[in-house]
Amino acid sequence: MKNDLILVAGGGGFIGGHLIAKLRELGHTNIRSVDIKPTEEWYQVFDDVDNVVADLKLKDACEAATKDAVEVYNLAADMGGMGFIENNRALCMLSVLINTHLLEAAQAAGTVQRFFYASSACVYNADKQKSEDVIPLKEADAYPAMPEDGYGWEKLFSERMCRHFREDFGLQTRVARFHNVYGPFGTWDGGREKAPAAVIRKVITAKETGDLNIEIWGDGKQTRSFMYIDDCVEGILKITHSDIIEPLNLGSDELTTINGLVDIVEDIAGVKLERHYKLDAPKGVNGRNSDNTLISELLGWAPGIKLREGMAKTYEWIHAEYLAKHGAAV
Ligand code: NAD
Ligand code: GDD
Repeated sequence: MKNDLILVAGGGGFIGGHLIAKLRELGHTNIRSVDIKPTEEWYQVFDDVDNVVADLKLKDACEAATKDAVEVYNLAADMGGMGFIENNRALCMLSVLINTHLLEAAQAAGTVQRFFYASSACVYNADKQKSEDVIPLKEADAYPAMPEDGYGWEKLFSERMCRHFREDFGLQTRVARFHNVYGPFGTWDGGREKAPAAVIRKVITAKETGDLNIEIWGDGKQTRSFMYIDDCVEGILKITHSDIIEPLNLGSDELTTINGLVDIVEDIAGVKLERHYKLDAPKGVNGRNSDNTLISELLGWAPGIKLREGMAKTYEWIHAEYLAKHGAAV
């Protein structure tokens, strides 16, 4: 029902903001958005949404947030790109309190019909990601467990907690493992940004300042797939309303090297830069791609927006943000 209360935890963040925009577009009129940041720092704020600033690590806050909710989307976490998660493992793991208290509160509320949890490709066994020449990761590759230190362990543990709340208490949990998501209205500077936004910012900075050099973390040969935000939101809604109870990959399977990502951004910007490789920078795994066999079979759908297309839209937004912050070059 369009007036059932929907809770988006982490609604001031990148994916949460886009999810709320989509829910409004679909006609939902009763949305509560909760985030720890002051609303001035939210990427998207909607006046017709119940916007709440609260720390969801606290059980009381989770109880207030889930009161009367029919659907809960947990997108709240203390996280970022490799630069953040490699240097803030304890903070990443503390997000376990958010999911734990949200699950308990959702269960106690008695009204929640669906609980969505945002997991990550960082749950996958590191041994399967040693080579740039990757075999795409399928869902079974999370076990035996050897996830990303800190952040990945928290995600894997929280996935299992969702499973046990479903099995033991009947709470209808659904879980997606996101592969690196990018798009407008997301982090593009400050240290938490991921490679797509970081590369765009660096190329724009070079172009605007005339210093035609770029620093790339690692040797540029590492591989990834990047999912545009519209695919992510569509996948969240499909998975939440499906009968798929096991964690599912939600990612693009269009593989690129980081050098290939830089090529795309240079092409969008119409510049060529001198590349400098910082080999001791946070690098993460050597290669990662999403195996979309299962999602295609189960949903008859998989993310399909092309990297070039999504990066062009993201470039446009970050360029405007850059100019608003730094002004245009003279
Ligand atoms: P984001 O950082 O933009 O959004 C997360 C939001 O959670 C932030 O606004 C933050 O302030 C909020 N938050 C943090 N701690 C909180 C707390 N204690 N109480 C309330 N709010 C709190 O990140 P995002 O990219 O939108 O990610 C959303 C979810 O998806 C996260 O769980 C993240 O781990 C997961 N994920 C994202 C990606 C990606 O590439 N963006 C990949 C894998 C998984
Ligand atoms: N962040 C960033 N900034 N990465 C860079 C940069 C830069 O300026 N230059 C090159 N890279 C390289 C990193 O060294 C890494 O090898 C690769 O680009 C991808 O980095 P990120 O985008 O930061 O993270 P990731 O893909 O390793 O992991 C991300 O995706 C996971 C899901 O797939 C993280 O955001 C995780 O939090 C997320 O769960």
